[in-house]
Amino acid sequence: MAPYPECLMEEEKSSILIVDDLQIHLELMEAIFEKEGCRVVTAHNADEALRLLEKSSSDMAILDVMMPGMNGYELCRRLKEKSGARFFPVILVTSLSELEDKIAGIEAGADDFITKPFKSIELTTKVRSLLKFKKLQEELDHSESIIITLAIALESKDPYTKGHSERVGNLSAEFASIIGFQEKEQNLIRKAGVLHDIGKIGVEDSILHKRNILTKEELHIVEQHTIIGEKICRPLHSLSVILPVIRHHHERWDGAGFPDGLKGEQIPVMARILSIVDTFDAMASERPYRRPISIEKALKKMEEEKNFGQWDPVLLERFVEMMMGKS
Ligand SMILES: [Fe+2]
Repeated sequence: MAPYPECLMEEEKSSILIVDDLQIHLELMEAIFEKEGCRVVTAHNADEALRLLEKSSSDMAILDVMMPGMNGYELCRRLKEKSGARFFPVILVTSLSELEDKIAGIEAGADDFITKPFKSIELTTKVRSLLKFKKLQEELDHSESIIITLAIALESKDPYTKGHSERVGNLSAEFASIIGFQEKEQNLIRKAGVLHDIGKIGVEDSILHKRNILTKEELHIVEQHTIIGEKICRPLHSLSVILPVIRHHHERWDGAGFPDGLKGEQIPVMARILSIVDTFDAMASERPYRRPISIEKALKKMEEEKNFGQWDPVLLERFVEMMMGKS
């Protein structure tokens, strides 16, 4: 039998930060995880743990809840803040099994709990499963970043569209925040903004960059970028929520858009937002066939066309308000 459970035996040793004020507990857990093939970093209190993390990173942490000074809940909160969007698993060790303590731990962002006294197999199983989950998350992030890089690279070939999708993503997220979307949704719409035109990778450059009016057949080909974009992003489970945004960012409020001719509130709200921001950024940017127009002029034109059926009129009004407030 192999000496170590296989999922803790990654090519690179997983590093675990253990924080406990009792030396004997630290030694016990250090022995358990060193036997599992992990690199162990120990600290006797929260301040020492934070100092150690400044010097070298860890893959996850196991924190005693009851410690003098900063307790495990607060340390957990700090570690989660520090890790930002990166998944940093935390297990809280408690001698209590009261519901309120678990609620406090969940509110602090803990991923799992273990109650003293515990069996080492119980703890190693929890650690193994969190490290496995972390690895999957990292693989997912990696795949996502490949698609996002591809979207940015695709645009950068053309000086007229360079930076368009990132600007659309950032401005859409800002607008979403103003109208009350939560941070998670703001991040989703930012991603949708960056990826909304990735399907153009499947459309010939000669059509995309044509200066003259497109024929009916060419228009049909360009319209396919919404469907191609959805297909490109579909294999990534983490992008499933934004697939409808990519597919429907050219629908119109009056039902005359593409690819499905959705109308009014049938169009996902994130797609309605993206459609407004996409048009605004295109108007305010230079194109091969025209000079950019000023922000004020672009907003004025969009407001004049508020009831022409392209956009959700209420959202458009809010967008113009937001942009006017910035200028
Ligand atoms: Fe598009």
